[in-house]
Amino acid sequence: MNLASIVHHRHATKAFDPSRKISAEAAAQLEDLLRFAPSSINSQPWHFVIASSEEGKARIAKATQGVSAYNTPKILNASHVVVFCARQNFDDSHFAAVIDQEEADGRFAGPDAKAAQLKGRGYYINFHRFDRKDTQHWMEKQVYIALGTLLLGASALEIDACPIEGFEPGILDEELGLRAKGLTSIVIAALGYRSAEDFNAKLAKSRLPAEQVITRL
Ligand SMILES: Cc1cc2nc3c(=O)[nH]c(=O)nc-3n(C[C@H](O)[C@H](O)[C@H](O)COP(=O)(O)O)c2cc1C
Repeated sequence: MNLASIVHHRHATKAFDPSRKISAEAAAQLEDLLRFAPSSINSQPWHFVIASSEEGKARIAKATQGVSAYNTPKILNASHVVVFCARQNFDDSHFAAVIDQEEADGRFAGPDAKAAQLKGRGYYINFHRFDRKDTQHWMEKQVYIALGTLLLGASALEIDACPIEGFEPGILDEELGLRAKGLTSIVIAALGYRSAEDFNAKLAKSRLPAEQVITRL
């Protein structure tokens, strides 16, 4: 598939075929899309809970009650469900872990290069902590980059997906014990293969005109 087909083939899948499962090989590629998504200063302020068992999906589906009950069948019938979590704090130990990992992965020529990165990126962390006072919002924005990366990549693998914000984060955080781990749920993605009941697959895509959303200078 070329990029245009990948973009147009992707749509928010409204009904999944419960009998069709994502292969282990494709699931590993989906995990790579999540882990290798870009984030500001490589902060990776995220964690991904992935359910492929019936029990795991049922636990996640508990967070779709009341007004969000329309999302329950998507979660139960999808092959895999990803809960995108953000950290509750961007603490110094997380920042140190990122820099140490980069060192272990061979990204620094020497201690001076590592110290320079600590200083430069420390500036941005304090900028969000003290100037903008938006650390939580900043981290959540990074999480959405991982969501976008996953959606487009899944389409390239001919895997259908539905992003889901219609759920109760309080219920999901409690069910998965996220807050005790310093995490909170942000958004969900259901992944698998569309069923015949997926009405959205048959509808024309609709977007605002290019001239309204794009300014070319
Ligand atoms: C962050 C996000 C949250 C969404 N939440 C839901 C949801 O809870 N349930 C649902 O059926 N669709 C949900 N959608 C799907 C959007 O309605 C859909 O992407 C949009 O209408 C554009 O249609 P398309 O993705 O089919 O091109 C969500 C999409 C995004 C990006």
